Amino acid sequence: MEGDEVSAPASAESSQDGLNRATWARTVLEFVTEGWADRGELAMLLDLSDEFRGRSILDIGVGAGRTVPLIRLMTRDYIALDYTAEMVQLCADRYPDVDVRHDDARTLSTVPDDSIELVMFSANGIDAVGHEDRQEVLNSVHRVLRPGGVFAFSTLNRDGAFFGATPADAPDTPWVPGSLRPRSTSIEQQQASDDDDLPWIRAVRNWRRLRSRTQDHGEWAIGPFAAHEFSLLVHFITLSGARRELAERGFVLEKIYQCDDAHPLVGASTNALYFHVVARVATIPA
Ligand SMILES: C[S@@+](CC[C@H](N)C(=O)[O-])C[C@H]1O[C@@H](n2cnc3c(N)ncnc32)[C@H](O)[C@@H]1O
Repeated sequence: MEGDEVSAPASAESSQDGLNRATWARTVLEFVTEGWADRGELAMLLDLSDEFRGRSILDIGVGAGRTVPLIRLMTRDYIALDYTAEMVQLCADRYPDVDVRHDDARTLSTVPDDSIELVMFSANGIDAVGHEDRQEVLNSVHRVLRPGGVFAFSTLNRDGAFFGATPADAPDTPWVPGSLRPRSTSIEQQQASDDDDLPWIRAVRNWRRLRSRTQDHGEWAIGPFAAHEFSLLVHFITLSGARRELAERGFVLEKIYQCDDAHPLVGASTNALYFHVVARVATIPA
């Protein structure tokens, strides 16, 4: 385990960051799973696996390590990192032979320039930071990728039903039943004993507290997110917005996988709840 001091940039978005990081720290045991999250993620990994077999892969926002066994099917040249200390500790305990670092996606201070061939940021982790800080994430990922390298991540859709959802109408997640290994009974028991309140009441209370912080800028937005009983304030983006921001940061968007579909998206828009993006570092024509 490396990099105990995380240097998050000071910014006006730090209160959003503080809120989300406190939620991750509190819910760390919910992330003790293995397996793919949804059909789109599995399809994307299968498509990437030939190109990146045996190559250097950086797994940002690894959490408790769900993606560790999946990505190590592709390579042993693997670095995982997360900015939530509790997640880093748990992941390192579960996978003692993995290089798990405490680092922030906005700086990637422990990762050298041009050193990685595939960067992954799964489960909409990129959406935890605000819009300006998201540009820092894209800049840092671009810095550590080798020319022609790929950034694969998932992101919440501004045109999907999670944006603007309330506790009364929030959609279910599209996780594939059985694709995630169940948690152990002891963890479930521990969580049950920690719960002294009804989830519904917590969700309504959190949503009321966060909804006034909603911002809608058309191609992107900030708003409460239904996960963890509405205790996250997250970024949403449209497909056209994602294409634009990636181009501005030196990436070419190659493929989109909707969360609930095993085939790459054909078309210029989607109302999926979230989508997976495969973006490649743009090369300058000779
Ligand atoms: C939804 S959890 C997903 C965890 C894991 N990838 C999984 O699929 O189970 C998102 C993770 O991203 C991490 N994260 C969010 N923003 C981050 C940042 N700026 N730098 C590093 N990690 C971050 C959080 O701490 C959290 O562990």
